[in-house]
Amino acid sequence: MSFRDEYDGARALAQEALEREFTRQGLEEAMRYSLLAGGKRVRPVLTIKFCEAAGGRAEEALRLGCAIEMLHTYSLIHDDLPAMDNDDLRRGKPTNHKVFGECTAILAGDALQSAAFRTAAEAGLMFSRPEAGLEALRYFAEAAGEHGMCLGQYGDTTIPESERTAEILLRINDLKTGALLRAACVLGVLASKGNRPVGLDCVSAAEEYALNLGRAFQIKDDMLDAMSTDSELGKPVGSDLANGKATYMSILGAEKCAELVREYTERAKAALGKASWAGDAAFLFELADELAKRSS
Ligand code: IPE
Ligand code: IPE
Ligand code: MG
Ligand code: MG
Ligand code: MG
Repeated sequence: MSFRDEYDGARALAQEALEREFTRQGLEEAMRYSLLAGGKRVRPVLTIKFCEAAGGRAEEALRLGCAIEMLHTYSLIHDDLPAMDNDDLRRGKPTNHKVFGECTAILAGDALQSAAFRTAAEAGLMFSRPEAGLEALRYFAEAAGEHGMCLGQYGDTTIPESERTAEILLRINDLKTGALLRAACVLGVLASKGNRPVGLDCVSAAEEYALNLGRAFQIKDDMLDAMSTDSELGKPVGSDLANGKATYMSILGAEKCAELVREYTERAKAALGKASWAGDAAFLFELADELAKRSS
């Protein structure tokens, strides 16, 4: 199977599962609007593919992958609010608060976060080793909250431009973007561990892969913010500049950024070689390269 077919297969699984959620009018309509607006679905694809690499089946990882996509979508709804990045376009459509108003957008984000943890808990209840479910839930909460994504968003919105050195940006990025990508990868391994023994080396390799993939991913996101178009990206270009936000692009320039993306991508791929996988990890090698080349 080609890389593209494999990616599309995993994405379609996640998409079908997400389409079954939030079918009522009102608040659920606002949740559904952003959740189903599109998006690459990188996080559920990672969860599914790490589960398979660790010897599991895609279906075993699907609920955890959906949980992460719900949490990611909540982070995007809140990230676009006037109090944060104040953006009007997301996933090729008007942002949640532009359509439903700020109050409903805040609540839709809040409710997606709750639904994410409910969904993750449901996933754990289906494992034959439920302690792996609890481990996944704890890892997920840690990645999302005051030690993870929220702390990164806090740093990104409060640290002034003059203090944003490359080193500070690295720490912000590891949290605001890296933390959830790490959870996506590790929860995939834990989904397999829910039903069979899995080596500890798989968890640490997943973490190292995700750390480096996340660094490449956010630098590429900053490059696209400066160099793409609204229609290709599905979100407004120039948002960082408009918010007076120093990023790797403004500090180091496009050439150095491209070099860093290549370097972190290589490190991500090398990390995969540090574990013995019961399944096939080839897709994950290629995924790192494809994300480095992406145009949206
Ligand atoms: C956007 O994430 C926010 C960042 C962490 C850079 P994605 O680039 O994965 O956005 P979608 O899910 O494809 O819309
Ligand atoms: C936000 O980073 C990451 C999260 C939403 C946690 P950005 O603000 O750069 O993401 P985009 O560019 O709006 O997608
Ligand atoms: Mg932001
Ligand atoms: Mg933003
Ligand atoms: Mg961005």
